[in-house]
Amino acid sequence: MSTTFQLDTATSRANPTPAPMKRLTVPAIRRRKKDGVTVEPIVMLTAYTARQAQLLDAHCDLLLVGDSLGQVIYGLPSSVPVTLDMMAAHGAAVVRGSYHAVVIVDMPFGAYEQSPQQAFESAARLLKETGCAGVKLEGGAAMAETVAFLTARGIPVMGHVGLTPQAVNLLGGYNARGRSDAEADKIVADAKALDDAGAFAIVIEGVVEPIAIAATQAVACPTIGIGGSALCDGQVLVTEDMCGMFDRVPRFVKRYADLAGLISGAAGSYAAEVRARTFPGVEQTYQPK
Ligand code: KIV
Repeated sequence: MSTTFQLDTATSRANPTPAPMKRLTVPAIRRRKKDGVTVEPIVMLTAYTARQAQLLDAHCDLLLVGDSLGQVIYGLPSSVPVTLDMMAAHGAAVVRGSYHAVVIVDMPFGAYEQSPQQAFESAARLLKETGCAGVKLEGGAAMAETVAFLTARGIPVMGHVGLTPQAVNLLGGYNARGRSDAEADKIVADAKALDDAGAFAIVIEGVVEPIAIAATQAVACPTIGIGGSALCDGQVLVTEDMCGMFDRVPRFVKRYADLAGLISGAAGSYAAEVRARTFPGVEQTYQPK
């Protein structure tokens, strides 16, 4: 069987981890913040595929299999239609492609909000089928009981407050949160409720900077900002956004590469060579001996 590229299965979860590399753990991430101080900021990026995980793994403390894959991979209008099947398939691929970072898989909309029991069933399925170390779910105080329920049953939970994209129909869009006093107070209270419930970390998305800082100072667990503040305990971005795959990105994204330009350029060169019959060349063809 021929493949277009070789997966290094020696470094996947299915095979022994090469010594001396050991996968980071959720408790190790949680311990990064001690007495309100995080000396070494936590690095998280999204990953959806095995190859992407391989490329990101050595640089990251956490890989998030985000439900943003709905828009990024599947071209969906929001993360609302994303299913547990999709998260399980991509989560397993990312675990196979990594051996260093902690892999966290998003719980998709509709898979956890109904009850702590529903959340446990969904989260247990993700842990069993993917080998991930924990799950992320959106929502603040309303989800505290669920976070406590999962944590007490051996499932590490990352919270997510502020701009919660699964609630786009309620929020009416993806604007920054925390501009009114009431909204700001609620975001900090939500973060505290998740922290008290046992979340090992909390994503703070799309909030005005002073609120990201206030929430970070208010909780014992690490916060991971996206459109928050450099003073959060860590940062996350959608990898395709920061690699320049899309023309339109939120204000909080910094582009570190122009992958769209590279891919488009490569496709253009290929197309030109096919049309000119200069590809395939001698090196890419098989000749009789
Ligand atoms: O789905 C996702 O990618 C996320 C991050 C943006 C935090 O939740």
